[in-house]
Amino acid sequence: MKFFIVAASLIASVLAQSIDIGVPVSGDAIQAGQQLTVEVDRPNSLTGSEEVAIVIGLRPCYDNNCVAADEAIGSVLYNGGFKPQYSTLPGTGEKPPHQNFTVTVPEDIQAGPAILSVSHFSLVGAGPWPMFEVVNKSLTITGS
Ligand SMILES: *[C@@H]1O[C@H](CO)[C@@H](O)[C@H](O)[C@H]1NC(C)=O
Ligand SMILES: *[C@@H]1O[C@H](CO)[C@@H](O)[C@H](O)[C@H]1NC(C)=O
Repeated sequence: MKFFIVAASLIASVLAQSIDIGVPVSGDAIQAGQQLTVEVDRPNSLTGSEEVAIVIGLRPCYDNNCVAADEAIGSVLYNGGFKPQYSTLPGTGEKPPHQNFTVTVPEDIQAGPAILSVSHFSLVGAGPWPMFEVVNKSLTITGS
């Protein structure tokens, strides 16, 4: 019984610490060679957590085969720190803490379906314990 409570609270705290890709949304078309804003959301939670780093990757689905993002992330568009904050812009009060990253889609990347991924590493709770996750969005790359 105790095990289940611990497991359930561990799962709940993992979910609470999970990030989301707010922008772009699934199905969006992005253009090779152009800048792209990636909004990484980290919903607020009661369990304290400390951010370590994220990696934003973009990988075409070669032969229409979208390889799982935790196996291959393709081009690394950003690799570095993550400091989610509430937006101070008017009309964005509903947004969770987030950070926007402006990245450049590689010029020579293959057009067609692709997977945008964010790999996220953070320290959770009082231990703290290390948490690693990979989230993704399916996009379409159009030629430059
Ligand atoms: C993208 O994320 C979804 C939901 O978590 C998952 O089911 C899917 O396997 C992931 N796709 C890739 C290519 O990693
Ligand atoms: C981040 O980008 C989103 C979408 O473009 C925008 O709604 C939000 O206000 C931006 N946040 C900040 C802090 O600039």
